[in-house]
Amino acid sequence: VATSRRPLRLALLGFGNVGRYFVGQLAGAYGRVLHAAGVEPLVTGIATGRHGVALDRDGLALSRALRLVKAGQTLTPLHRGAPIDDADAFIARVRADVLLELTPLVPTSGEPALGYVRAALARGLHVVTANKGPVAFGRRRLMRLAARQGVQFRHEGVVMDGFPIFNLTERCLPGTRILGFRGLLNSTTTRILGRMEAGLDFDAALAEAQAAGVAEADPRHDIDGWDAAVKACALANALMDADIRPDQVERRGIGGLGSADVGAALARGCRLRLIVRARRRAGRLHVSVGPESLPQDDVLVSSGADGVLVLETDLMREVGLWEGAGGVDQTAYALLADLVAIARSA
Ligand SMILES: NC(=O)c1ccc[n+]([C@@H]2O[C@H](COP(=O)([O-])OP(=O)(O)OC[C@H]3O[C@@H](n4cnc5c(N)ncnc54)[C@H](OP(=O)(O)O)[C@@H]3O)[C@@H](O)[C@H]2O)c1
Repeated sequence: VATSRRPLRLALLGFGNVGRYFVGQLAGAYGRVLHAAGVEPLVTGIATGRHGVALDRDGLALSRALRLVKAGQTLTPLHRGAPIDDADAFIARVRADVLLELTPLVPTSGEPALGYVRAALARGLHVVTANKGPVAFGRRRLMRLAARQGVQFRHEGVVMDGFPIFNLTERCLPGTRILGFRGLLNSTTTRILGRMEAGLDFDAALAEAQAAGVAEADPRHDIDGWDAAVKACALANALMDADIRPDQVERRGIGGLGSADVGAALARGCRLRLIVRARRRAGRLHVSVGPESLPQDDVLVSSGADGVLVLETDLMREVGLWEGAGGVDQTAYALLADLVAIARSA
């Protein structure tokens, strides 16, 4: 059957867990979904931190790229053309329609991802990111730049992995205003508090989470509430047209909580959890992160949830999303959903 699919040229900046999973699916299910949206995906560039850079305007050999990085080697053997030194040169030179920005989050500044996104949009590329930084630190300016350039900046994967928060509000709640939200968005602190309810003290619960690979070696961003604050900003900026940064969030972590606090909450029929809230009060947006004692039947503390988000709206009352165990497949799916949106709008 003859097809008339348009090529959709993709450049990946970052080729770690998410980028590799995404690329691995292109020959299978993700490829079929993009075909159905009328496009033929072609990866024309991949840039990494320590695994080199490869450009090929005719499309890179993806299974070989995956084999090289999995073996700890660089992508350089796949590169065609003059050598490329860094991410800035990659963004300036790659022949692509979309930049997939998949570098690690720097929760204090959003950089260098913020600058990468800005440069790609300024060059007229659509940008899809799974990195919270650019959304938490500069979404409003990036959206304006994208509009001026006639391209899209999409970021479905930045909160609750692939759960369709941003695409849901954009497409399925027309004319509805988000008045506020509340959520359980940091799985590391949820796990630690859950294990403290089972009798472990804070240090033992944290050590267990680290041993299971759930908490980072340096867990302060989770424990002190920074990760949740960055997510709260990404949500407020996107859903409530705000322009706030993580250091403007009222933030308390769970570091000061002990077994006695957890036990006292349980005795009252409650659970302590790190909760994110946003609301406009007297015209001012108020965003907070902190431990709260919630009744055990509250939707935010339902057991087994990695993430829960309740949107408070004017026309649709409350709309909730519940995520079980999150995973890299869901984040990669968010990239796919954003690419389908771009393909359909072309
Ligand atoms: N994993 C998840 O389930 C998940 C969920 C939601 C959101 N996210 C977000 O998605 C993004 C990617 O996550 P990931 O798990 O794939 O991260 P990762 O495994 O740490 O991979 C990061 C990639 O970025 C590259 N990189 C680092 N600094 C760079 C730079 N300055 N320029 C170019 N490339 C650079 C790294 O290169 P080297 O490999 O050579 O070091 C690596 O390929 C992050 O922002 C993360 O917060 C991830």
